Amino acid sequence: MRYAVKRGEGSSRFTLYAFCDQSMKRLLLIWCTLTLGVILVTACRANRYVAGMERLGGSSTIFDTSFNAFEHPMAGLPREKELLFHVGNSFFEQNWVTAPASTTARDGVGPLLNSRSCAGCHLKDGRGRPPQAGETGTGLLLRLSIPGETVTGAPLPEPTYGGQLQDGAIEGVEVEGQFVIDYVERPGTFADGTPYSLREPTYRLTDLAYGELHPDVMVSPRVANQVIGLGLLAAIPEATLLALADEHDADGDGISGRPNMVYNRVTGENEIGRFGWKANQPTLLQQSADAFLGDMGITTDLLLAQDCTAVQHNCIAAPTGGDPEIERDDLEKVALYIETLAVPAQRMPQDKTVLRGMGEFLAAGCGSCHTPELTTGDHTLAPLANQTIRPFTDLLLHDMGAGLADGRPDFLATGSEWRTPPLWGIGLFETVNGHTFYLHDGRARNLTEAILWHGGEATAARDAFLNLPQAARDALIAFLESL
Ligand code: HEC
Ligand code: HEC
Repeated sequence: MRYAVKRGEGSSRFTLYAFCDQSMKRLLLIWCTLTLGVILVTACRANRYVAGMERLGGSSTIFDTSFNAFEHPMAGLPREKELLFHVGNSFFEQNWVTAPASTTARDGVGPLLNSRSCAGCHLKDGRGRPPQAGETGTGLLLRLSIPGETVTGAPLPEPTYGGQLQDGAIEGVEVEGQFVIDYVERPGTFADGTPYSLREPTYRLTDLAYGELHPDVMVSPRVANQVIGLGLLAAIPEATLLALADEHDADGDGISGRPNMVYNRVTGENEIGRFGWKANQPTLLQQSADAFLGDMGITTDLLLAQDCTAVQHNCIAAPTGGDPEIERDDLEKVALYIETLAVPAQRMPQDKTVLRGMGEFLAAGCGSCHTPELTTGDHTLAPLANQTIRPFTDLLLHDMGAGLADGRPDFLATGSEWRTPPLWGIGLFETVNGHTFYLHDGRARNLTEAILWHGGEATAARDAFLNLPQAARDALIAFLESL
């Protein structure tokens, strides 16, 4: 791996030195000099600008640093696909209306829903955030389930409220409920004595309209991800991901990523999960169909039945906007849209601090999960095919420790496992979405807090960060902000 750096080698070799005669001494000296040289060269290379490395999404990368940075089609997308991209975009952005309506192509939202549009949560194709007190519609939702699994291995929905708390509904149907987040501050200090504080959230469900929750209910809060570069992630060959996996930590580095295996409704097979915070979705088509139904109450040919539970009578009786409410053809345009949204280029790739930060990132072991470089496989769309990309993810599940655990399994993912999220675009959330909340539930208020929450398999990497002096930490953050 071009970016690997090894530190701390060579010190014990000097003890040997004292016991050797002259000629051996000379040989040892030469050997030590060579070893040191190799270490130095590797270290320097890690901090070196490599031509084109700012093209995080390969040849499809676009160059825009404005608040529209996430909204572009990939560079090199054929004209006819770009037209479909724009149709998909309109389905993604516009509010769907209640059935029956004159605009039959866009009716059928609800009965229960979280938002009337995809963009309501994925604002400007970017990152959602937790709501402030009294606020709604910021792109954080609560998944619900009880112990056990369905026949396909999916989480077992909570019997009264289903698989997610819907905090919206059409007229005449009771909204399921709302939630309140309480935060507790957890203070700590860096090795150099600088103090920090992390806020730990707990979730209270309120105004529940359909009675008590199951006593064993498990709740998983999740914010809406940015939706850039997903076609490139989909185009990484399965074999590459399997090769990155190290389920039983055979190499002994304390990191044991493994793929989630999830049910694909189209093929009827279990496949590697790539999307969502627990990698619980295998394809963009299925992710879109699940979002239409779960988040907006819109049926597709993949999911024909509304998400009403047996006790939700008004939900069951509500008028529909067709059967399905969005045709397969249009669903595919939405899937194409999120498949072909471009990744913006890295900013200031040659800046000294940014390059130093990249070195610190790799030296701390962040790249063991946030894989710096991958190659996509063959693809019918040229901008997605055989691209060298820099997503900073392995798409694998990692145990992140008790601090981040939601305690809710999702297919193979345990209650403390999460998919390594891609870091491309992470430095643009502030410009695009006006906030700097990170992690699956937006608990981290800045990038430093996001790193400090790392535990479990990432404990050594977090501790390496805790032990860095201020200037090195700042460089590492500057590197993340450049992505
Ligand atoms: C109520 C808010 C909400 C709405 C509306 C919504 N999403 Fe999402 N979206 C989310 C959340 C939350 C996640 C993470 C889900 C998870 O981890 O289980 C997500 C994840 C995704 C992902 C996976 C991204 C990744 O990096 O893995 C895609 C793709 C996506 N949504 C597309 C859509 C589409 C298409 C629509 C409209 C049909 C839509 N979403 C509507 C909240 C929303
Ligand atoms: C063992 C694998 C692993 C290692 C090592 C690791 N991370 Fe992560 N990282 C993750 C996972 C998994 C998440 C998502 C956790 C969550 O949301 O609860 C994450 C989340 C993040 C986020 C927030 C991303 C977002 O989209 O909100 C940042 C920033 C980040 N990591 C940076 C780093 C840095 C810097 C290092 C090195 C000091 C590092 N990570 C080391 C696995 C890892």
